[in-house]
Amino acid sequence: MGKKSIYIGLITVMIIVVGGLVFFKFTNKKSQINHNQVSNQFSLPSAISNNDLLETFGSTSTEILNNQQLEQNSAQPQEKLYTLEEVAQHNSKESCWTVIRDRVYDLTQWIDKHPGGSDKISALCGKDGTQAFENKHGGEEKPEKTLEQFEIGKLKQ
Ligand code: HEM
Repeated sequence: MGKKSIYIGLITVMIIVVGGLVFFKFTNKKSQINHNQVSNQFSLPSAISNNDLLETFGSTSTEILNNQQLEQNSAQPQEKLYTLEEVAQHNSKESCWTVIRDRVYDLTQWIDKHPGGSDKISALCGKDGTQAFENKHGGEEKPEKTLEQFEIGKLKQ
């Protein structure tokens, strides 16, 4: 075997190795982006983890995500409107609605989970809880995020 063929062999091996590394890096980055998109946009049921989604759908997950996004958007065409009288009917632990900054929240599931005690939430059932919420949690990220999950509509003006 001549020197020339050894050089050619070495160069071929290097191209394969470098090409492989670049390919691996690229696909890895792509799946990370998908992963982030999944976790940012949707709160998946805990039984289906983001990894499951990626594993099942592999590289087509972006398309699936886009479809899910479309479905999500079209599934909420209009916000529901409620009067204060309607909210006032949900004034118990069995059905607890409250108004905070003109948005209506069904807090029934949250009453017993509130880290500050169930009594604080019960006190807001059927009422406008804006003042109480703002006084305690105004501008705090966690309570604001928690509220978002329970929104059912807006207050009819
Ligand atoms: C109406 C909806 C409310 C929601 C969604 C809510 C949500 C939360 C959340 C997520 C936490 C945990 C905060 C953390 O870990 O950083 C928390 C803690 C707490 N909440 Fe509320 N809250 C509400 C109303 C209230 C009201 C009206 C009061 C008092 C009058 C109150 C008193 C407290 C207290 C004392 C804590 C414990 C620790 C702390 O000071 O952050 N909460 N709440």
